[in-house]
Amino acid sequence: MNITHLEGKTALVTGGGGGFGRAISRRLAAGGARIAVVDRDPASGEATAAEVREAGGVASFHHVDLTDAGAVRDMVDAVVSEHNGLDIAVNNAGIGGDMVPLGQYPLDTWQQVLDVNLSSVFYCMQAELNAMTAESGDGGSIVNIASIMSTVAMPNISAYVASKHAVLGLTKAAAVEYGPQGMRINAVGPSFARVGFTADKISDDAQWASMAAQHPLGRTATPDDIATAVAHLACDSSSYVTGQLLLVDGGYTAQ
Ligand SMILES: NC(=O)c1ccc[n+]([C@@H]2O[C@H](COP(=O)([O-])OP(=O)(O)OC[C@H]3O[C@@H](n4cnc5c(N)ncnc54)[C@H](O)[C@@H]3O)[C@@H](O)[C@H]2O)c1
Repeated sequence: MNITHLEGKTALVTGGGGGFGRAISRRLAAGGARIAVVDRDPASGEATAAEVREAGGVASFHHVDLTDAGAVRDMVDAVVSEHNGLDIAVNNAGIGGDMVPLGQYPLDTWQQVLDVNLSSVFYCMQAELNAMTAESGDGGSIVNIASIMSTVAMPNISAYVASKHAVLGLTKAAAVEYGPQGMRINAVGPSFARVGFTADKISDDAQWASMAAQHPLGRTATPDDIATAVAHLACDSSSYVTGQLLLVDGGYTAQ
């Protein structure tokens, strides 16, 4: 398959130490982009940056808790000054929250999920859009990692479903506001993948087999499936695509 052409571009990837974030960082780097890996976990974030460098790419690591709006602004400033600009931002960091019926859903977890999955995306987009519009380049591209839970729901994850529906709303709001300035803002909606917090919550092989069977394509997602879709939306061959959710879900939501 053709590697997307991203030479000369700088891409920021939040949650870059995680399952999808690492694959996205590797994929964008393979296309020629310089990568700013952002994560609150220094060990995994540094490991992603090291992998990119070992493969011949350019990568920096930025340690930040994305729920702190001021720290997010400082991080984006640091990325811009280290890499001489910002062209692509992938807002991927997220958490799952609890699996509990809405009536009993703990209020502190509700707040935590909204802080990480929604407010941090807002803080990131604000800083990224301001950085991109300050440059006199050829616009920028933001890809938010949403979910199949941006369009459908399943029981016992109300905070997660609400946060991911809201990320789609933010994506569309930004797309209509910033289109006139040449900025494209899209979202990718993965189905279940056995990585990160999803793998931690669901460890039973039989349950994964039954989840795979719920997809017309007969399997769950891989990080590379998601990274390929991100690269597609981030690059200039999608130059007429904005405000969209690209569901990468093996047909799950088509049923
Ligand atoms: N794995 C799945 O099944 C699945 C399905 C649909 C959507 N998603 C979405 O994909 C994204 C990535 O998920 P993943 O499966 O790779 O999970 P993951 O747990 O492997 O990665 C998430 C990363 O985000 C980082 N992070 C979390 N909170 C942060 C914060 N406050 N500040 C900075 N970094 C923070 C974590 O340290 C971690 O490295 C999430 O937005 C998730 O909701 C995942």
